[in-house]
Parts: sequence; structure tokens; C-alpha cells
Amino acid sequence: MTRIAVLVSGGGTNLQALIDAQTRGELKNGVIAAVLSSKAGAYALERAQKAGIPGYVVARKDYDSNRAMTQALVARLKELDIGLVVLAGFMHILTEEMVEAYPNAILNVHPALIPSFCGAGYYGLHVHEKALAYGVKVTGATVHFVNEEPDGGPIVLQKAVDVLPGDTPETLQRRVMEQAEWVILPRAVSLFCQGRLSVEGRTVLIQEGE
Ligand code: GAR
Repeated sequence: MTRIAVLVSGGGTNLQALIDAQTRGELKNGVIAAVLSSKAGAYALERAQKAGIPGYVVARKDYDSNRAMTQALVARLKELDIGLVVLAGFMHILTEEMVEAYPNAILNVHPALIPSFCGAGYYGLHVHEKALAYGVKVTGATVHFVNEEPDGGPIVLQKAVDVLPGDTPETLQRRVMEQAEWVILPRAVSLFCQGRLSVEGRTVLIQEGE
């Protein structure tokens, strides 16, 4: 069984999608063992508590730098014997200590079709504001492995979502979550836990299964 830690900063709807998938028996060979939040009082922690999953706060404001926060996170993840780290709406850039501790074992969900609308400054609602400002007709979500480059690691799964006339950043965000993020994140986590993902250069190979 792979012990999964989910890192969050806010509302935690992607965490909820993972919890729901686990309840349905769809996280094969994986168990959500911990939720770590960069903010005390994040609603995601309440979701964890309701599901009986231990929650921890590693607050960004308690550390001088992203590096110091990353080191504290790595120490906690190791203590908890975590095998897969999932960034689900985690709003800070982790330093290389995390990637060194968990090579090809950190998954991030990003609310756009990478390499569009990604990298530094592209997070949360801003991503959808920028997609609408550009006038794209299709956007979506990406789950990728995390490497040293923000949003730059090998892509595991992507799903496209239509932009509709009259969309606001909020309506588009909701559609991307419902149609893409909440679908592909649990699927990618399950594939990882079943040992069905391998990385060759920039390409993630997915072993067929049922
Ligand atoms: C999600 O849309 C997630 O993809 C995005 O923040 C939102 C968090 O929502 N993440 C990023 O932008 C990371 N670059 P949630 O807390 O309800 O899961």
C-alpha cells in the first residue's frame, strides 16, 4: 500500500475528490495517510478531519523562506513514511529538497493544459483570468510529476474543457475542476499507487490495466 500525503493551502476540492475516490475503492493500492496544510484554518483540514485523516499545519508564515518550509515538510513526510506526495491546490513553490527526497513521486494538478498558462504567477483563479484574456476556446487541466522547474515536470494526464461564451474566471474554474481536475487527479494517483507509471525523459508511460 502506498501511503499518500496531500499538500493543500485552501478549500481542498481536489482533496475531496481524492477522498471520494478512496471511499469508492478507486485509489487502488493507495491510502491517504495525511493532509498537510500551509495555512492554519484552511477548509481542506476540515475535510480531512471529517474523513478521519490526520491533518498537520506547516504554515508558510512560521518559516523565513520557502526552503525552510520545504525542509520542514520533507522531515514530516519522512516521519509519516509517505511514498507519494500530491500537491492539490498547494500555493507555494517548493525548493529542490522536496524533489531530491521524492524523485518522480510528487504529483501536481494544474488548472490549464501545460505548457499553456503555467509557471511562476499562474495559480488558482489567475490561470483562468489569463486564459479568458487570451481568448482561448479550449483549456483544461494537467497532472504532472514535479521537478525543479515550476509546472515543468513530465505530464501524466491531461483533459480538455471548452471555454463557453459569457464565462467568467469563476465559471471557467468550476467547469475545469468538475470536468477535468476531479477526474484526472484521482486517476493519476491510482495509476501511481499501482506502479503503472514510468518516466522516460519527458514522457510518462502508462502501463495498460483494467
Ligand atoms: C485548483 O484549481 C488547482 O488546480 C489550483 O488551485 C485550485 C485549488 O483548489 N492549483 C494551482 O493553480 C497550482 N498551480 P482546491 O483547493 O479546491 O483543490
